[in-house]
Amino acid sequence: MATKIGIIGDGNVGSALGRGLTRAGHEVRAAGKDKAAVLQTAQWGEIVLLAVPFGAIDEVVADAGEALAGKTVIDVTNALDASMNLAIGFTTSGAEELQKKLPKARVVKAFNTVFAQNMDSGRLGDKPLTAFVAADDALAKKTVMELARGIGFDPIDAGPLKNARLIEPLAFLNIQLGYALGMGTQIGFKLLHG
Ligand SMILES: NC(=O)c1ccc[n+]([C@@H]2O[C@H](COP(=O)([O-])OP(=O)(O)OC[C@H]3O[C@@H](n4cnc5c(N)ncnc54)[C@H](OP(=O)(O)O)[C@@H]3O)[C@@H](O)[C@H]2O)c1
Repeated sequence: MATKIGIIGDGNVGSALGRGLTRAGHEVRAAGKDKAAVLQTAQWGEIVLLAVPFGAIDEVVADAGEALAGKTVIDVTNALDASMNLAIGFTTSGAEELQKKLPKARVVKAFNTVFAQNMDSGRLGDKPLTAFVAADDALAKKTVMELARGIGFDPIDAGPLKNARLIEPLAFLNIQLGYALGMGTQIGFKLLHG
């Protein structure tokens, strides 16, 4: 079913997922830093995808938090500090902190373990990449898994939002392999399963 998906953050990630979701038949609108556009996009979207730098989350919450009440919010952010190290871990996660800031939204962690370069197809060559999807709301999680499948990913139910504590460091491993260890962005995780 075609869904209106508002994307906040129109950079590498927002534009790649926007292309993938459009190709999958959804209606997509995206906004960058313009506060009025961020609010309009949050109001318009039936589902809203957050693809801003970790440090911009508080600003987005201030600009559009009210409009996100009752909506599924897909958190693609990686909780990295200015030195590109993990900013949060072990006892909480970026996604759980976002859920506290948006108590009336249904936060779903997804897509953050994938490089933007591979997000519009959800594939590396012809192989589907795994989209780990974690959320406390079962329906929101199922909906995001279907969006991921529509793009081309192999979606995996990764459990409650608390499991973002595991998924966010996995994204950091991806960044380490891709950039620090020189493997480049044509890599990605695939969970083998029957
Ligand atoms: N790049 C990847 O491969 C990758 C993969 C997985 C997850 N992520 C995560 O996804 C997020 C986005 O990454 P990216 O690579 O797409 O970054 P990016 O290319 O720098 O894009 C960030 C976007 O957020 C916008 N933005 C910044 N502050 C904002 C605010 N206060 N309100 C609304 N929009 C704001 C920027 O607008 P302007 O253009 O106007 O500055 C830009 O459109 C980050 O949290 C990152 O860790 C990235």
